[in-house]
This record gives sequence, structure tokens and C-alpha cells, in this order.
Amino acid sequence: MAKRKLIFDVDTGSDDALALMSALLSENEFEVLGVCTVSGNRDVDNTTENTLRVIELLHKEHIPVIKGASRPLIAKLDYTRHINQQLETVDENGEIISYHAEYLPLPAAKIKPLEKVHAASWYIQTLLNSEEKITLVLTGPLTNFALAYRTAPEILDHIAEIVIMGGGKNQTNSTSASEFNIFFDPEAAFITLSVGSKVPLTMMMLDATHQAYLTYEDAARLRKLNNAIGEFAAVETESRIKAYNLLQPLGKKDIAPIHDALCVMYLLDPTVITKKEFLHVDVVCGGIANGQTLIDNRRASQAIKNVHVCYSTDSDKFREMLVSILEKSNYLH
Ligand code: RIB
Ligand code: CA
Repeated sequence: MAKRKLIFDVDTGSDDALALMSALLSENEFEVLGVCTVSGNRDVDNTTENTLRVIELLHKEHIPVIKGASRPLIAKLDYTRHINQQLETVDENGEIISYHAEYLPLPAAKIKPLEKVHAASWYIQTLLNSEEKITLVLTGPLTNFALAYRTAPEILDHIAEIVIMGGGKNQTNSTSASEFNIFFDPEAAFITLSVGSKVPLTMMMLDATHQAYLTYEDAARLRKLNNAIGEFAAVETESRIKAYNLLQPLGKKDIAPIHDALCVMYLLDPTVITKKEFLHVDVVCGGIANGQTLIDNRRASQAIKNVHVCYSTDSDKFREMLVSILEKSNYLH
């Protein structure tokens, strides 16, 4: 199978970093054309710097990083738009524990993002000029894609498929109704999901990504690589385990969901997802349920289907796939 061309859009971000690394290490399967950045986990200046650090860690300096939106399309309309998710805490040793450090624990980047071009413009020029259809992997708030699509809807003709991390049915994190990427920019999510009736759009929602995790055992295996990639991946896994234990305990202790990496594992092997349905999905914009993804799974629904909704993951398969790919770093030239 010919290499699939990918465009990433990230708010790096510990799990964005591992997702991007896994795609960059899958050189026989993917050609990463560029990585767009957006505000989300951290401000876009931080997510851009963090993405540049990951690109340098993998020695992929030829891949452009393109800075994107610093704010959601329609921000802070009312009180419900202020995130009330506890994003960091202090452990018994006084150590700050968070899902995403301000800066990833990697050397400051020497390379710079593309100059004088915004991610939304870059999407348009790259997609419209591409002979081959491109796959979009969107693992942060969807502001950049929404801007690009509203500006030049004809980009859809150049998109093979879109895979997003976002949403939830029985699982939430930002509020009792919403998942972070959607909550951060609900209008952009509404616009993005609307294209799912025209191009294949798959949603890795929390119900599936909470089952896409790594463990301390996986971190130990990564550390055995004795290289910077293995050490970084191990450190990020361990810090995410601590963050989940303290901030968002899930059904199992000592696990770190690597939400964004599930998008890449799915592209490599769709059987990592054990339940997926093509349904109609709406996004609530504003009000107390702001950012909620409303999944219409009524059998008699007449609503236009727009999203391949992923409900569950083969956790063991996910772990083995992600760690095995990161172990390829031993052969990185
Ligand atoms: O809700 C999890 C998502 O929000 C992940 O993409 C994480 O990186 C944050 O962006
Ligand atoms: Ca992310």
C-alpha cells in the first residue's frame, strides 16, 4: 500500500507528542506533510515550541510546523465556557502534577515554525495543490480546520479522511457534559463534524481513548531503549499516570490514556477499535452542556449520518502497537 500523506493538527501536549512520534516512526506507512498547532492544552506559542521539540527529537526537521489559532472561534461567550476541569495539582512530595507541562522536558527547539503563514492558510494551499488525497489527524481543538474549511470549502475534494480525538458519550473530562477538545471550541467542532457527511470522519471519543492507555510496565520497556525517545516517552507516560491517579481516576489505577495516539493506531490497524458505528453527531454550542457531543444512536433516526463514532478499544493491542512503534526508534538514522 502506498504511503498515506498526513497533516497533523495538535495542541502538544504530552499525548499529542506521543501520537506525532508514532506517526513519524511509521515511515513505511505515512508521509507527514506538516504539523499545524493550536491553543488548547497550552497557549499556541507553547504548543508550537513543544511540537518543534518533538520534530527535533525525531530528527525530522524537514517537516514544517505551522502555527495556528491562539483563540477559539467564539470564546468565552458565557460563564459555562470557563473550563472547570482541574488541570494540575501538587502531590505528597510537593511536586506539581499536570497532564501537560508548560514546556515538554526536551531541549529548547533550534528550528522555527514556518514564517508568514497561518495554519488555516497552509491547509488551503497544501490541500488544493495536492494531487493525492490527504488524511487529516486532528488531536486538539478544531479551530484551524474550521477556519480553513469555512474559507475554502473546496478543500474537501483533496481530503481522503479525517480522524479526530474528541467528544464522548458516557465519558467526559472538561465538564460533566463535554470533552476538552470539543469544549475548547464547540463552534469549530460543529463546523468540522458537519463535513463528515461529505468525507469520512472518524471520532476517537473518550469512551474509546480511556481504554487506549499505557502503564508503568510500558514505561519501563520504553526506558530500556536507552535513547532519548524512549526516555521521553517513559517520562511522559509516568507523569500522565500520576496525573490521572490524582486528577481523574478511571476504572483502573496506574494507567495513562494516550488519547491522541489512538488516532494513529487506528489508521495503522482499524481493528484496534472494537466498536464503531456510523451515526449522526451534533455539538452543543453554549449553555450548561456547552461542548457536548450528542450521538443519535436511535435505530429509526432520519438524521444525516456524519461521524464514525468509536466506542471501545482493544487496550492490549493498543499498548503493544504503540510501544512497538516507539521501539523502532532504535533504528532511527
Ligand atoms: O480530552 C483529551 C484531549 O484534550 C487530548 O487531545 C489532549 O491532548 C487534550 O488536547
Ligand atoms: Ca491533544
